[in-house]
Amino acid sequence: MEGMEAEEEPPGKTPFFRARNLERALKLKRIFIKFEGASTTGTQKDRISRLHVLRAKSMGYDTISLATCGNYGASISHFAELHGLKSVIAVPDYYSGERNREILANGSTILSVNSKYEDLVEYMRDRSNDESWYDSSPGSVNSHVDIEGYEMIAYEIVDQLGHAPSYVAAPLGNGTTLAGIYSGFRKMQDRGIIKKVPRFIGASTPNGNPIVASWKARSRKIMELDPGSIHETKASEPLVSYRAYDGQKALNAIYKSNGMATYVPDDEMERYAALIEHFEMLSVLPASASALAAVDRLLNHKVTDRDIVTVLTGRSRIWTTQ
Ligand SMILES: Cc1ncc(COP(=O)(O)O)c(C=O)c1O
Repeated sequence: MEGMEAEEEPPGKTPFFRARNLERALKLKRIFIKFEGASTTGTQKDRISRLHVLRAKSMGYDTISLATCGNYGASISHFAELHGLKSVIAVPDYYSGERNREILANGSTILSVNSKYEDLVEYMRDRSNDESWYDSSPGSVNSHVDIEGYEMIAYEIVDQLGHAPSYVAAPLGNGTTLAGIYSGFRKMQDRGIIKKVPRFIGASTPNGNPIVASWKARSRKIMELDPGSIHETKASEPLVSYRAYDGQKALNAIYKSNGMATYVPDDEMERYAALIEHFEMLSVLPASASALAAVDRLLNHKVTDRDIVTVLTGRSRIWTTQ
């Protein structure tokens, strides 16, 4: 209507489809893709960023902050700009900084700090407290919002598929995304909307991830890794950590759903990203292709005629025109 601003559509409603060409190529049956890379800033992070920005505004903050490897920062900075909040984004200075230009173009301040990601999360927690910024980093007082945001992925999968799949595969960094999707399925089960929660397949990097390490060690309690033992590469950056902030929740989800977890080395992530591009014409981040690699590794030849949903969390061709 004239004179009225169009209402902003919340993130989500991402594409979902059966990947018939990949099925043929990999000799897998009934593979479905939930493509989070179609989100405005290219990753699943949009689902939580808008929630945090609106919450920060409603609580009276004028600045939102976080520590990030890049994707979450690009997302927060976009929604902060859209809703008139300032944003301060801390990025470890030895990371690839792939999304820094975009973050700056969104009007954010970047703090490039010589620090490991987890230490930067702790630093931003204290700094946000001192400066009265809204802290949207994982593990903050505000992070319950994240689970709520990612539950939407589960609701959409059931809506788009018509029922709950047998398996859901997702990449693991802090574990928040997988834990949120699991929580969504659990809620639907509690409400009688679905009979069974899918089995969860978690994929991460051998360069360092406490969730897969704990699962492999058959530990029910999330472990912390030696900070000196992890190393980031451009491909594995979003998944590497020595402390996973929602690691216990993700580990519980894997155990409770009778699921599995595995490491996927960089060259394998890159190979599956190339396969996805070739067969389904989606350009995805290697870290997100780890979900399909894990499915192929863990389920091929073992599972037939079961619906397997792979959540591809990010696209690789990102807006960089400024
Ligand atoms: C594209 C992408 N996929 C997966 C992940 C891992 O998600 P989580 O930290 O919620 O486990 C991230 C985290 O930054 C990411 O950017």
